[in-house]
Amino acid sequence: MPDKSDKQISVFAPATVANLGLGFDVLGLALIEPGDTVKAQVVLEPGLRISKISGDGGALPLEAADNTAGIAAWHTLKKAGVEIGIELEIDKGLPIGSGLGSSAASAAAAAYAVNLLLGSPLRKKELIGPCIEAEAAVSGRHADNVAPALLGGLILIRSMQPLDLVRLPIPEDLFVVVVTPEVELSTKEARAVLPGSVPLPDLVSNTANLAALVSAFYSGDLGMIARCVPDKVVTPARAELIPGCMDVINAALDAGALGSSISGSGPSVFSFCHSQRSGIQVAEAMAAAFSKADLSCRKVVSPGNCCGVRRL
Ligand code: HSE
Repeated sequence: MPDKSDKQISVFAPATVANLGLGFDVLGLALIEPGDTVKAQVVLEPGLRISKISGDGGALPLEAADNTAGIAAWHTLKKAGVEIGIELEIDKGLPIGSGLGSSAASAAAAAYAVNLLLGSPLRKKELIGPCIEAEAAVSGRHADNVAPALLGGLILIRSMQPLDLVRLPIPEDLFVVVVTPEVELSTKEARAVLPGSVPLPDLVSNTANLAALVSAFYSGDLGMIARCVPDKVVTPARAELIPGCMDVINAALDAGALGSSISGSGPSVFSFCHSQRSGIQVAEAMAAAFSKADLSCRKVVSPGNCCGVRRL
């Protein structure tokens, strides 16, 4: 009897931009690329094993209990009430510690692949819980990367417990630029610098802007989107950790970006743009600003509305 089934399922999960400026832990959006690929296969030996990880330069643990793909897969099996042996293979297309939801993409791809292997007993939305457990184990309990990585598009996390999500519309002409400098910043480190309390005027400003940003996504008012991205609470604290951060944001705005801020916990920086053409110009300007801080970077110009996890 062979020790593995012939059936191997391959799944891709995309990078995501969490926060989108001032929506700390509550807004996240899927990008077209890059992303992680996870292959899952049923094996005779019970339990979960990660047989291979590529593209991570040896940085990630093969131990399933310490790896977000392994943790999400384990919680998916538990939620489905199934006890079988599964082997995972992970190909990291996403840089680690980049602010592009690297841990979330591995978790989402693994949870979706395992669910497909089981014949899809769980709905996509039910995989968010297992993926949140994986995020909580490595970077903090938040769903603004795993939700868009699984569901695609732009997702508002209204509540984590119980989970309550709102899918927001994205104006057709909206593009998202992300530049990723060649430095790592862990989400844990970037969460550690956040202020423990917020001055009331900053709370008022952020509340007004977040409400107006949501309304602008519905109305398609790009001018309003541009006015609402600046954040008075999280971004100023984190900008200190990213060389050239404010210069990159200002370069994006000077080049015509509608708004620009840190992607997730950084060091990537994102911008909203009104067209692909503008996105390409903005990406060049942002990369030039990072290079003044002696950092080269990867650039992505993505449509605003992209799908989430998918079978390859
Ligand atoms: N909302 C999270 C944070 C996203 O900003 O810490 C991490 O990618």
